[in-house]
Amino acid sequence: MITPSFTKTQLDDIDQQIEINKAVALSKFRLKKVEQRYFMDNLAKQQKIILLDKVFTPSRPVMTREFFFGRFNEINRIFSAINEEGKHIILYGERGVGKTSLANFMNTSTQFLATKVTCNRYDTFNTIWKRAFEEILMPLTNGEWEIDNVSSEQVSLLENLLYDNEEIESSPTVIRILKKVSIPILFIFDEFDLIEDNLTQIKFADTIKALSDNLPNITLLIVGIADNVNELIGNHNSIERCTTQVKLPTMPDDELEKIITQGLEKLELTIDSSVKSHIVELSQGFPHYTHLLTKHSSKNAIYNNSNLVNKDHFKIAVEDAINDSYESVKESYRKAVATVKKETDFRDIIFACASVETDEYGTFRLADLQNVLSELKQKPVKPQSYAYYIGKLCEADRGAILQRIGVKNKYRYRFQNPLVKVFVLLKNYKPITI
Ligand SMILES: Nc1ncnc2c1ncn2[C@@H]1O[C@H](COP(=O)(O)OP(=O)(O)OP(=O)(O)O)[C@@H](O)[C@H]1O
Ligand SMILES: [Mg+2]
Repeated sequence: MITPSFTKTQLDDIDQQIEINKAVALSKFRLKKVEQRYFMDNLAKQQKIILLDKVFTPSRPVMTREFFFGRFNEINRIFSAINEEGKHIILYGERGVGKTSLANFMNTSTQFLATKVTCNRYDTFNTIWKRAFEEILMPLTNGEWEIDNVSSEQVSLLENLLYDNEEIESSPTVIRILKKVSIPILFIFDEFDLIEDNLTQIKFADTIKALSDNLPNITLLIVGIADNVNELIGNHNSIERCTTQVKLPTMPDDELEKIITQGLEKLELTIDSSVKSHIVELSQGFPHYTHLLTKHSSKNAIYNNSNLVNKDHFKIAVEDAINDSYESVKESYRKAVATVKKETDFRDIIFACASVETDEYGTFRLADLQNVLSELKQKPVKPQSYAYYIGKLCEADRGAILQRIGVKNKYRYRFQNPLVKVFVLLKNYKPITI
């Protein structure tokens, strides 16, 4: 029996490529033949594991087009808006549905110059536009740039057109700078929902209107978490005509399937079709979980020298995926079930909330839970008996895992963070004989 040269932890290490290189050198000099064979097997596995981390990326948006799947409808709508003079786009949707990945896809388009700014909670109109102007390097042509002492061959950042220490206070400054630009540019502002300064929202709405009226070559793509456009940029009738509003829905099953099959193709692996269906079903339209579950299932297959991802690999992967879920998601669940006396009741009720059928906004009514809970408890259950728990789950000190929407007697509920809903389903996943 030969002791493995690498531990599982090492394999997971992001620096593993360096380790491989060192080990290759070592093997040439020190390892005996049988050890070398073992080493080569391990090396092949490790290379697959490295590729696996590139193909399945549960914790980061898709950065390159090679790993971006689906969303044809939304892409077409965004492209038509860009081609339409004076149109701007607002891309919104639930947390984690793939907005940044789509924004990255647009940012890497070769058809026009694009730049992406990721907003944060401290940003203002000035800081956002300054970052955008820092990114754009423009060729200078005679007459286009009113800067002293520049020759026609020079290029310059747009920010150099600002006066010394000038703040970008409002839309006229943006227009003044962008008037110097003669080619179409797409400005993408991602995570726009994070901005806390209300005035910035208003100034952006003004800028959209002003750009639409004056500079039809410039397009803004505003991206963020929201149920509707007003939530993201405020209620501004003036921009309705000049914006295309694109809601990014949860990912359809056939597109989630593509993430699995085309990703596995790159790893030269195949997957049991019922395992694939389970991953798609459990993902509930959230590609994060498709990546997470496929990644862990494939890792198990690779470690077991199998080219087929099967139900045993998947079964272990569910546990791995639970452990590897976002800390914030795990914490929400822990708070909701553990801070109360009757823990089991809360567990069942949260599971019922995750399993119940919802409307297009992911919401359900109190009464909708009755059948699911009755089935779960195997006895008739009345809404009065669980209304208290649902109320508690909306409170901050219980983690506010649920959000209450609407007016009294017509309340609807949904998971504050939809990724928690999928986590609850994973926690309650009972391996089915596939
Ligand atoms: N079109 C796609 N093809 C393949 N994977 C995708 C696609 N869209 C999203 N993903 C994957 O889904 C996960 C979430 O994607 P992303 O970060 O883009 O979502 P988001 O909507 O921007 O999230 P948030 O609301 O937190 O900003 C990531 O793991 C990403 O790799
Ligand atoms: Mg995002």
